[in-house]
Amino acid sequence: MVERKRLFDDQDTRMLPGNASGLHGEDIISVSQFTTEQLAYIFDVAQEMRGMVERVGGTDLLRGRVLACLFYEPSTRTSASFIAAMERLGGSVIPITQGVQFSSVSKGETLHDTIRTLEQYSDVIVLRHPETGSADIAAAAADVPVINAGDGAGEHPTQALLDLFTIKEELGTLDGLHVAMVGDLRHGRTVHSLTQLLGRYDVRFTFVSPEVLRLPLDYMNQIKDAGKDVRETYNVADVIGNADVLYVTRVQKERFSDLAQYESLKDYYRITPDLMAQAKERAIIMHPLPRVNEIDVRIDTDPRAAYFRQVRNGMYIRMALLAAVLGRA
Ligand code: NCD
Repeated sequence: MVERKRLFDDQDTRMLPGNASGLHGEDIISVSQFTTEQLAYIFDVAQEMRGMVERVGGTDLLRGRVLACLFYEPSTRTSASFIAAMERLGGSVIPITQGVQFSSVSKGETLHDTIRTLEQYSDVIVLRHPETGSADIAAAAADVPVINAGDGAGEHPTQALLDLFTIKEELGTLDGLHVAMVGDLRHGRTVHSLTQLLGRYDVRFTFVSPEVLRLPLDYMNQIKDAGKDVRETYNVADVIGNADVLYVTRVQKERFSDLAQYESLKDYYRITPDLMAQAKERAIIMHPLPRVNEIDVRIDTDPRAAYFRQVRNGMYIRMALLAAVLGRA
């Protein structure tokens, strides 16, 4: 028999691990797991990713690696940005994002078994699921890293990272800011994660919501215990003149059992050009998107509208996170 020629060179250095982030092999479940140094490190890598993408579009840092993207809830940005991030780093994707109904989930497969299966094919799993705590269940089932892309009304850590990164990029600092969170603070997982992260910095909060959509007490107490100045109001007009960041969210229809209640709340807030005329010149307006009616489209051309720049930042942050959990950053 002819001796077989080896396919791979053992001296190939492409797969040399790097773990300066301390995230190699780690799950990303909650923002509470990150140290402040790790956040700064991820932001630094994200900035490098931005530079690389602007120069050459992509690289082969994650060549040969596969991401399984498993979404049990609708998504445009989170799924597309993870896919774009993986592909720009030279990896590839198993997308189960549009048709969980066409997968074995519709045959009654448990989350545990679906995750155990996908980890046989992939090196990292991104999961969005309607139940709070589902990301922990998946992480316990899998040996490969699991990244929480939203667990019900729980957390959305990668969104919070990109939100924080956006504030820093737009305003140059995370300290000395007055942040106003507006809308469905009860069900909005992006608010839950971002509030926890911002609580580590010198930030003053105003929570703007109708009574039934107030921020859950757990999150409120956490930042109060951290000694933050916290106010609550129903009225955007109370804060618009002195907020540095206006973080607007949609009323989360899918979390209501009483649709009549949703209907009565869905148009509670609407940021209009008239309101923006009262905002600081250097303020920014953010939104995790999708927007329904909360922000008038005429604001899109206002330089303070940061929500589409925020979307782009999501790709750089997810590139940094994928590189980190796969041991390349
Ligand atoms: C958010 C989510 O899914 O929690 N969307 C997103 O990931 N950008 C916000 C929302 O759906 O309102």
